[in-house]
Amino acid sequence: MHSIVATQKPAAADGAPRPALLLDWYDRHRRSLPWRPPAGERADPYRVWLSEIMLQQTGVKTVGPYFLKFLARWPDVTALGRASQDDVLRMWAGLGYYSRARNLHACAVAVLRDHGGVFPDTEEGLRQLPGIGPYTAAAIGAIAFDLRTMPVDGNIERVTSRLYAVEEPLPQAKPRIQELAATLLGESRAGDSAQALMDLGSSICTPKKPACALCPLNEDCAARARGDQETFPRKAPKKTGALRRGAAFIVTRGDELLVRTRPEKGLLGGMTEVPGSDWVSRQEDKAALSQAPVLKNVTRWHRKAGVVTHVFTHFPLELVVYTASVPARTRAPEGMRWVPVATLADEALPNVMRKAIAHGLGE
Ligand code: ADE
Repeated sequence: MHSIVATQKPAAADGAPRPALLLDWYDRHRRSLPWRPPAGERADPYRVWLSEIMLQQTGVKTVGPYFLKFLARWPDVTALGRASQDDVLRMWAGLGYYSRARNLHACAVAVLRDHGGVFPDTEEGLRQLPGIGPYTAAAIGAIAFDLRTMPVDGNIERVTSRLYAVEEPLPQAKPRIQELAATLLGESRAGDSAQALMDLGSSICTPKKPACALCPLNEDCAARARGDQETFPRKAPKKTGALRRGAAFIVTRGDELLVRTRPEKGLLGGMTEVPGSDWVSRQEDKAALSQAPVLKNVTRWHRKAGVVTHVFTHFPLELVVYTASVPARTRAPEGMRWVPVATLADEALPNVMRKAIAHGLGE
């Protein structure tokens, strides 16, 4: 139901953004997304949790097919809790930030073991679980359990900072923005309020050229009143990590490729990779090459022209790629194994390795 008050949009006495206008807009314009139930129906905590973990560092478009694939294979938290971590990592391959997949599995195991397969329905209870921080606990709490709490993601941060023209730069402004975003919560429907702000941020209150004429909150937006809405949120200058360099070794034995599994802990933990040098700044080519795997029949490495680049959260990486091919029956060095190139898609291969392999095996 759309109230007359909402459609007429009389200004609030104090000029504060009005939650009812936001919900009214959501009811008409909400995005249909694979993890959202039809309007008015209760969301399934498992689906909300699974989608929120995937959406932590990945966009809605990329997450869609992964979410559906996971749901088809593991329809509930019990099924996922009984899966092997390896299978979960394999299904996750390509989504990046792999600690999310390890935590996802650990969380399902914990819900099954400690909570009888039922997600806790408080933020505090949710935060005890692996991979669930304050944001995700608030998102699950609001969307699945209708707790009166506001999860603040990048979209909500931008919308709120504009509505209130928050001058303090991010990340220092986070607590203030959290407080202000909570003013957009009405008496009920916290999950819809949060998702309304997410949708508003992705379709109307965009980083560049926001479509303010279409915004249900435009009359209450402090930044729009000043005309400098595009300049929010204010940001402190970012420090990016220094470039690291390394070498990747592409060894083929007929139709097979030499691979190994990364250590469980740390960056890309437990994922598959081709052998390589360490990744450090000021890496000398010679030092990287000296870390090549020792194989009986390799006397010479061919250096592929060009480099493979990849940007991790904390540093950009540049990999030099060396290739070699060895005769049939050459043994893999300890800790490494041969896999058919045709079945590489089944390996938990991170994107950086896909790039390195494509470069190494390319013409
Ligand atoms: N990003 C994070 N959670 C989301 C949700 N529930 N809907 C749309 N985008 C999101």
